[in-house]
Amino acid sequence: YGDYNTKIDYVFKVVLIGDSAVGKTQLLGRFARNEFKVDSKATIGVEFQTKTLIIDNKTVKAQIWDTAGQERYRAVTSAYYRGAVGAMLVYDMTKRQSFDHMARWLEELRSHADKNIVIMLIGNKCDLSYLRAVPMEDAEEFAQRENLFFMETSALEATNVETCFLTILTEIY
Ligand code: GTP
Repeated sequence: YGDYNTKIDYVFKVVLIGDSAVGKTQLLGRFARNEFKVDSKATIGVEFQTKTLIIDNKTVKAQIWDTAGQERYRAVTSAYYRGAVGAMLVYDMTKRQSFDHMARWLEELRSHADKNIVIMLIGNKCDLSYLRAVPMEDAEEFAQRENLFFMETSALEATNVETCFLTILTEIY
């Protein structure tokens, strides 16, 4: 993968959105570097990381963008969504409010992004399921109504992280 001669067939931009502290940065760290940082800080502005994968014998470079959930740290919205072919709408399954805000994030996404963008709803922190504040049925119903894929993940325990990124990338492809 470190080979500069590797021929890249596709570059797919995927954006992460959702309230502050739902775990967007940790999901990205887990996917891109198999890392979970104990001292994760709020994201300021925009960051991105890439990971190259083979899908159907093609080399796909996933460029995953992460931005601040906090309004005051957010960067120019239209630039963030430009060219994105996939989006991950992340909430914290132990925080009802972060799920209730999904409709607003989706509205922002739909008003800025390409209409064919593939969207996945993600209920993160499933390792804390004893603190669950969002029943799976609520999320499934919302996902079905809005035509989104849906998965519960844990960046901490690495549950479904690879799967959800692979699902969205395969779907884009
Ligand atoms: P902003 O940058 O402010 O938008 O936040 P964020 O959505 O990027 O959240 P971040 O990844 O920084 O994680 C917020 C907090 O939740 C940190 O203390 C993480 O360690 C913790 N966290 C993230 N993912 C998980 C998870 O899967 N399980 C548990 N238990 N904690 C998690």
